[in-house]
Amino acid sequence: MPTNVLIVGSGGREHALAWKMRQSDLVDSIYVAPGNGGTAEFNAPIKADDVTGLIEFAKKHHCFTVVGPEGPLALGIVDRFTEQGLEIFGPTKKEAMLETSKSYAKEFMKSIGIPTADFEVFEDSSQAINYAHWLNGEVVVKADGLAGGKGVIVCSSVNEAEQAIRSILDQQTFGDAGKKIVVEEKLRGTECSLMTICNGKSAIPFGTAKDHKRVFDNDSGPNTGGMGAFSPAENLTSKDVTDIVKRFAVPAVRASNFRGFLYLGLMLTDKGPKVLEFNARLGDPETQAILPRLKSDLFETLTHVESGISLDWDDSSACTVLMCSEGYPQNPRTGDLITGIDTAEKMQNLMVFHSGTQRRGDDYFTSGGRVLSVTGIGRSLSEAAQRAYAGVSKISWKGEHHRKDIGTVK
Ligand code: AMP
Ligand code: GLY
Repeated sequence: MPTNVLIVGSGGREHALAWKMRQSDLVDSIYVAPGNGGTAEFNAPIKADDVTGLIEFAKKHHCFTVVGPEGPLALGIVDRFTEQGLEIFGPTKKEAMLETSKSYAKEFMKSIGIPTADFEVFEDSSQAINYAHWLNGEVVVKADGLAGGKGVIVCSSVNEAEQAIRSILDQQTFGDAGKKIVVEEKLRGTECSLMTICNGKSAIPFGTAKDHKRVFDNDSGPNTGGMGAFSPAENLTSKDVTDIVKRFAVPAVRASNFRGFLYLGLMLTDKGPKVLEFNARLGDPETQAILPRLKSDLFETLTHVESGISLDWDDSSACTVLMCSEGYPQNPRTGDLITGIDTAEKMQNLMVFHSGTQRRGDDYFTSGGRVLSVTGIGRSLSEAAQRAYAGVSKISWKGEHHRKDIGTVK
């Protein structure tokens, strides 16, 4: 069993994974490929989609590999590592289709009876528009393939639906990812997410969370990769979690032989919970709010999934606020000097995970749209949010923006 760890990815999720792995006495060396400014001391200069380069590195350094983002999963990184006899935690390319093809995931849910919004799959815009008319425009239009979290358009009128359908299918806004679309019934209710850890036969909960996708306060403005999250989700009891794992996650894992983290995006409707989406990985920024609450050793957990594990959680709350570059999400500016990280890092019950930074000497510069994930821990969600915002107030750069209501809007 290797005792060095390679984490693939470069965001806040990967910084949080590295931070948590570092607490393990069982781990010798940690590498993050390619990482960011926050993981500079661990970085290996290999891109997350350079599977051949990652294989060479993992062989040379005898690594157990953990995959953060969906991109390398879609490329079949787990299949290729396994063929080479390398140990890696994550789903195969086929298993990851629960995330990488929305039409596949919807048909899959339908075939095994997991409750989800009614839907149809289309390649032809006029048929899709007819279906949207039939649902009075109260639909959600989804590009089939990976579109960086931007391929989902929630509509409230026939006009909006028509525009969304034409833009994806006819104008090919998302390229090949939009050759096919799912048009589905718009559900009403409250949202939350449940992460699970799976070994092909069973699934156990790996934390609940709620993320805030819209860029501005009160859930307004365009969707982003996530402006903040808190954990646990306030609208799921532990009984709900047990029930959802048993009725949704375990059947999904058994039917697909899924190994890795399976993320269930849920809508709690008046007819019970329904699955909005699966992700074949941990969420970002959900991970930055979940991992600080995990008491168990992460390395031991991931290397013992096959034989069965139980997890120990702190009963605190965690709240993560994303600090973003000017212009994010449309046109983020990069290269600005960040000040105050060291002051924030000295605060109690506060973690600063880097999402898009670059380190030069002792200084950090912005290098992406989402720059820092600041996580506060508290006995309640409001205490956690207060702590996160106290940390945020110490950090600045030109044009920085963040939401002011993470942890308060439901
Ligand atoms: P997805 O990537 O499929 O989770 O969709 C992104 C977001 O779109 C979700 O977090 C929801 O806010 C919204 N959404 C997706 N599907 C539906 C649906 N059927 N009804 C209502 N909102 C939805
Ligand atoms: N925050 C949502 C995701 O990681 O897909």
